[in-house]
Amino acid sequence: MIRFFAFGLAAVLTVMVCAPLGYAADNREIMVLPEKARMEFVIEMQSHLVGFDEILSAIAEGDFKEAARIAENHLNFGRNIWVEMAARGLSREKISGMRKRYRAMNPAEKQKLRNEMGVRGNERLPSSFNSSIQLFYGATGDFAELAKNVGDEPTPDDYEKLFAALQQITSVCRGCHTAYQLR
Ligand code: HEC
Repeated sequence: MIRFFAFGLAAVLTVMVCAPLGYAADNREIMVLPEKARMEFVIEMQSHLVGFDEILSAIAEGDFKEAARIAENHLNFGRNIWVEMAARGLSREKISGMRKRYRAMNPAEKQKLRNEMGVRGNERLPSSFNSSIQLFYGATGDFAELAKNVGDEPTPDDYEKLFAALQQITSVCRGCHTAYQLR
């Protein structure tokens, strides 16, 4: 009886300790992707981490324009429309202008432009996942705008705003990771 009780207590404690770490139950929604798309997705994710790290390096070096460029062109989902435009020789200024217009478009217009550019969409993903992606673009776009407008003599206030904007990005990374897993 005591042994039974001790076992029960151990089980309860294990759940109590592990639950806050998220080990007790994995409630993430499962997204099933074809093998190739899943591989591409994982590679893209690894490049998000690399991109984020490079943004931090650029900020540490005081190169805010570079930080903005990485946020705009390298934190992306799907073979990217901006990378595609750069590959076709469009200037940074032109891409930046188009990006602004793109953000104001409705989903159908965005899809149309992506189709015209021959860029893969995110059609296979659930719509709630796509909303997460939109939040991600919102956060990276806000950061880029801020970073671009930092003057030659950055103030403590500039750094405070930049870090708040970076945290907006990581909170979207974190939110999506808490909600979804791939199979
Ligand atoms: C829209 C959703 C979403 C966003 C936003 C997102 N991720 Fe992910 N990420 C995922 C999913 C889904 C996985 C796969 C998780 C699994 O299956 O366990 C993943 C996996 C990863 C992995 C592991 C890749 C591997 O080698 O297995 C890394 C690293 C990663 N993400 C980094 C990031 C970073 C950094 C950001 C933000 C800058 C980010 N992700 C934003 C959905 C997202």
